[in-house]
Amino acid sequence: MRNITEDNLTQIVEATFDNTPNPRLREIMQALVKHLHAFVREVNLTEEEWLTGIQFLTATGQMCNDIRQEYILLSDTLGVSTLKDLLNNRKPEGMTEWSILGPFYREDAPEMPLGANMAGDTPGDALFVSGRVLAPDGAPLAGALLDVWHADGEGYYDLQLLNPDQMNLRGRFHTDAQGSYHFRSIKPTFYPIPTDGPVGKMLRTVGRHPYRPAHVHFKVSAPGYKELTTELYVNHDPYIDSDAVFGVRESLVVDFVKHESEEQAAQYGVRAPFFTVQYDFVLEPL
Ligand code: BEZ
Ligand code: FE
Repeated sequence: MRNITEDNLTQIVEATFDNTPNPRLREIMQALVKHLHAFVREVNLTEEEWLTGIQFLTATGQMCNDIRQEYILLSDTLGVSTLKDLLNNRKPEGMTEWSILGPFYREDAPEMPLGANMAGDTPGDALFVSGRVLAPDGAPLAGALLDVWHADGEGYYDLQLLNPDQMNLRGRFHTDAQGSYHFRSIKPTFYPIPTDGPVGKMLRTVGRHPYRPAHVHFKVSAPGYKELTTELYVNHDPYIDSDAVFGVRESLVVDFVKHESEEQAAQYGVRAPFFTVQYDFVLEPL
C-alpha cells in the first residue's frame, strides 16, 4: 500500500472492505467507493470544490432535527428517492403506481366515516373525492384503509401552521362493502418544498424552482395486499411537468373537475365553484 497512485487507489480502497462480514454491506461500500472515485475523476474535483461539497453536507446535517430531514429533501431533489421507490415498487401492468411519501405524513390521522369533511372550516374550494379500492381482477376490496393527507389552498400542511398536537386535512377512511370510498375536503394547490435550508440554496444556485404540483397523498392498504403509497396529481397544474422531487406519473394525473353552478353546489351543500375527482386504486396482492 505504499505505492499509491491515481491508477491503483480505487482498487486499493475497495479491497479494504473485502473482509466486511455482511456481504450486502460489502457490496454497497465497494460500489460507493467505485462510483465516488469515478465522479471525482470525471469532474476532476478541485480542492475548493471538495471543500464546498463538505460544507454543503455539513450544513445539510445541521439543518436536520426531529421534524426536519434535510438529507431526505436532498435525496428527493436529486431524484434518488424516486429512483429507489421505482426500483423497489415495480408494479405489474394495471396496478396503481407508487409515488413519493414526502415529509408531511403523520401516523394516527383521525378515523372518519365515509363522506366526512377532512377540512373542517379551512377556507378553500370544496373538493369531493370518490372511487373504489380494487383487486387486480376488479373485485372490490371491502374494508380497505385509505390514509389521506394534503396541503391547503395556499400550499401549507397542518405541520407548517399548527401546534404539533393538532391535525388538519388528514383522515383515515374505510371502504364500504362495494369497495367504495368518498370524502370531502378542499382543493389543494401547488407549493414549494422547504427552501430555508441548504437544499433550497442549492436549487436557487442552479436555477431550479422548488415547486411540487398540487396533489393529494394516499396510503392504501388491505389485508393480503401490498400497502400502496401514492399521490393523485391535479391535471393542468402549472408544475405538473416539472415537479421539484420527480413524483409525477402519467397514470396518477387526474382531472379535478370544476363545477361552477350554484344550483349544483347547493345539492352538495357547498358554494360554487367546487371540484370533484374520481379515482379507483388497484392493489397488488402480497
Ligand atoms: C410532499 O409531497 O409532501 C413532499 C415530497 C417531497 C419533498 C417535500 C414534500
Ligand atoms: Fe405533498
